[in-house]
Amino acid sequence: MPITLKSPQQIELLRASGRLVRETFDLLRSQIRPGITTAELDTIAEEFIRSRGAEPVYKGYVPSGRRGWASTPPFPGTICASINDVICHGIPSHKERLRQGDIIGIDIGLRLNGWIGDACETFAVGTVDDATQQLLDTARRCLELGIEQARVGKNIGDIGAAIQHYAEAKGYSVVREYTGHGVGRNLHEEPTVLHYGTPGSGRKLIAGMVFTIEPMINAGSTETRVDRDGWTVRTADGKRSAQFEHSLAITDAGPVVLTS
Ligand code: CO
Repeated sequence: MPITLKSPQQIELLRASGRLVRETFDLLRSQIRPGITTAELDTIAEEFIRSRGAEPVYKGYVPSGRRGWASTPPFPGTICASINDVICHGIPSHKERLRQGDIIGIDIGLRLNGWIGDACETFAVGTVDDATQQLLDTARRCLELGIEQARVGKNIGDIGAAIQHYAEAKGYSVVREYTGHGVGRNLHEEPTVLHYGTPGSGRKLIAGMVFTIEPMINAGSTETRVDRDGWTVRTADGKRSAQFEHSLAITDAGPVVLTS
């Protein structure tokens, strides 16, 4: 599949979408507290996104290639809400209340004026224990280190290599099954961005590429499993996992983060 390069004008439109994602996070951050349900957070996000003339893109999403595969229903939420050992794709629920000491990863994808914004952030609910804070700090740093590699002339494998090297040096593991991806008019475009790998491998980065980097960092082993709902991805060992994601553009002046 070819990579569609984006013009500076198109990158500006993607930046507007990214800004709205960030505003949605700012709103959700103010609401995250013990006792609130993930369904309540989902409603807050959906109403805000629609009030700004945008639409949530995860809602009703069917993974490509699985269309018609009865065991994976369309995703029902505006946000993915992934608590503690849930790595990603947690379904917002009226039964699931945040508790003091939890972590919740929230992933938001939206379309504004035809262009996608996609980001994820993991929040602490109240105060978390030291081990959890270290996991959050490491996952956030992994994203930053990945972005630092996202430069013209580097290879896409440099991104994953930097992330994997740092995460493993800290004693964590990197999830393999879920990757970063190109974004543009569509939520999932080329290229695929692995969060592990070998320096110098993969495609050369060129100006106009726009993609996400979204490492999922596990406190324990890299193994994952999917709940019977067809969506919720958990660590196989029950340990916690944290994720941070930005959408960014490759430019001659360096990486431009669109969702900050
Ligand atoms: Co994404």
